[in-house]
Amino acid sequence: MVTHDAAVAAAALRAGGLVAFPTETVYGLGASVAHPDAVARIFAAKGRPTGHPLIVHGADASVLDRYGRDVPTAARRLAARLWPGPLTLVVRRSAAVPDVVTGGRDTVGLRVPDQPLALAMLRETGAGVAAPSANPFGRTSPTTAAHVAADLGDRVDVILDGGPCGVGLESTILDLTVSPPVVLRTGGVPAEVLEEVLGGPVERVATGPARAPGMLAAHYAPAARVVVADAADAPAVVARSLADGLRVAVLADPSVPVPGGALPLRPAGTGVAHYARALYELLRRADAEGAQLVVAVPPPAGGLGDAVRDRLRRAAADQPGEAPGGPPAASA
Ligand code: TXA
Ligand code: MG
Repeated sequence: MVTHDAAVAAAALRAGGLVAFPTETVYGLGASVAHPDAVARIFAAKGRPTGHPLIVHGADASVLDRYGRDVPTAARRLAARLWPGPLTLVVRRSAAVPDVVTGGRDTVGLRVPDQPLALAMLRETGAGVAAPSANPFGRTSPTTAAHVAADLGDRVDVILDGGPCGVGLESTILDLTVSPPVVLRTGGVPAEVLEEVLGGPVERVATGPARAPGMLAAHYAPAARVVVADAADAPAVVARSLADGLRVAVLADPSVPVPGGALPLRPAGTGVAHYARALYELLRRADAEGAQLVVAVPPPAGGLGDAVRDRLRRAAADQPGEAPGGPPAASA
């Protein structure tokens, strides 16, 4: 059932239902943390391995003390400056978080989304809402209610339709249980902004053994194969693939020319914010149009560009554990 009414979604959550809801990043597939059995159904609905921890969403920064413990000052400062917003803070978890949410680990990811319907739903639910992105495991995240309906329609009780997501890719995940804090996943808040708020460095990428199960290299993938090429190389890659008889699409900023014979996948405007917002929608369009290969010309590095480049790299990786050009970070 699709609704635009946050109260309907909240009632379903309070009753132990599964609700897909909009955030500023991507749509989430939520269950109330007061219903561990409902949280368990999220994993089945997504086809996601249990043990991958879920983010707990709340209406305001009180989630830090309700679901976290030993919350560091840095987390409070970031929450005060950047919540609501596309930032997930990993802190020690309190006893109010059931094991099923975090896969039993001692930490929990907390976030206050910057989306009015989501905030209204969260306020009315009265408990945290555990939610991953509302896509089948490994696929591109949904950025419209129609994406959710197409992917998971019969497996959710309610879809709260809040229109297209403004940011378009997932939250930045910052682990504050270590010093300096570590960015586990690049996302809507650039690392530069975190450093400015904290007045000190953050580590950019998780190194060593994965800190969270779910940090897979291959992810966010359409059915079409994805290759990443810079603007100078793209025409040759396209020409070669067309000569091989492939249906080729080119994903690039509108300022980058698309070679003839390829399907253009264009964000609505120039600049990285447009690119991020359109990214998953355009990868889905590639599949809908029957493209066999997507040649993606990434935006420049830095700021939000880092998150777009990360997602393109994962969409292009075909084996979990192999991220061309970069070590793995959190995904799913
Ligand atoms: O923007 C977002 O973050 C979206 C919206 C719905 O809020 N959610 C999202 O959730 O992307 P998901 O489950 O698709 O990705 C969350 C990532 C996973 O890779 C998970 O392993 C990591 O966050 N994560 C969650 N809790 C964690 C924890 N306690 N420690 C380390 N990583 C954690
Ligand atoms: Mg996900």
